[in-house]
Amino acid sequence: MIDIHNHILPGLDDGAKDMPEALAMAEMAASDGITHIVCTPHAFPDVYFPELERVREAFGAFKASLAETRIPMDLFLGHDIHLVPETLDWLKSGRVLTLNGGRYCLVEPPEFFSPAELESILFVLRREGYRPIITHPERYAAFLDAPGLVDRLAEQGNFMQVTAGALRGRFGRPAQAFCRRMARRRLIHLVASDAHSPRRRHPGLRKAFLVLREWAGDEDANTIMENAAAVLEDRDIAPFPPRDERTWLQRLSDRLFNRGGRRGRGDG
Ligand SMILES: [Fe+2]
Repeated sequence: MIDIHNHILPGLDDGAKDMPEALAMAEMAASDGITHIVCTPHAFPDVYFPELERVREAFGAFKASLAETRIPMDLFLGHDIHLVPETLDWLKSGRVLTLNGGRYCLVEPPEFFSPAELESILFVLRREGYRPIITHPERYAAFLDAPGLVDRLAEQGNFMQVTAGALRGRFGRPAQAFCRRMARRRLIHLVASDAHSPRRRHPGLRKAFLVLREWAGDEDANTIMENAAAVLEDRDIAPFPPRDERTWLQRLSDRLFNRGGRRGRGDG
């Protein structure tokens, strides 16, 4: 399995605090079946925004330390990028990194945001050729309060990454229910650990995929797993048309009463 969102690099943000902790996280990830990790430290101004040189040094040091162990793990680099109007400048100037140097970039909306502004920032990123992956929508009140927003953002060509722990209920019932709705409507493109330490946001994906299989079926769960490889190799993610959950009776009634061919947004 491939983990595309992980704060495993030591000493850069609120993730691994030192090398022993980072190695412990890698060991946990490996024993869970993870073979590839994209290391994605925060790029969050005034909070955690280390110079790129420091990020590259930490990456090199971690790679060297890992090579001295028997932990089998391929490492790649990227950023978990705070999503604000300046994000595009940071990307274009090389101040922040896309995932493994491709077009996909991991973007984290601010805690409070205006949907219109979010959509316009994402529009500009896509227009410039980037492929935004929105991190953990299930952990924002703004998304939970307006479920149709996730549908709309996905329709516009943004990708959604949910946290493995959220599928297992680690972020509470509402976040888990939101993930379930997303899974059933085919709005989850990627699952990642967002691991911060051996304890906080556990570095593991296996259990999350078992939950996903239960909710969305084997085929969709496998597609979501394969999407991580597409991101790593900068390939297209397979089209994932939203699933229409209406019964035949609802579909007939929608047609008779001319309510269009799709279910309204946010009513799933
Ligand atoms: Fe993160």
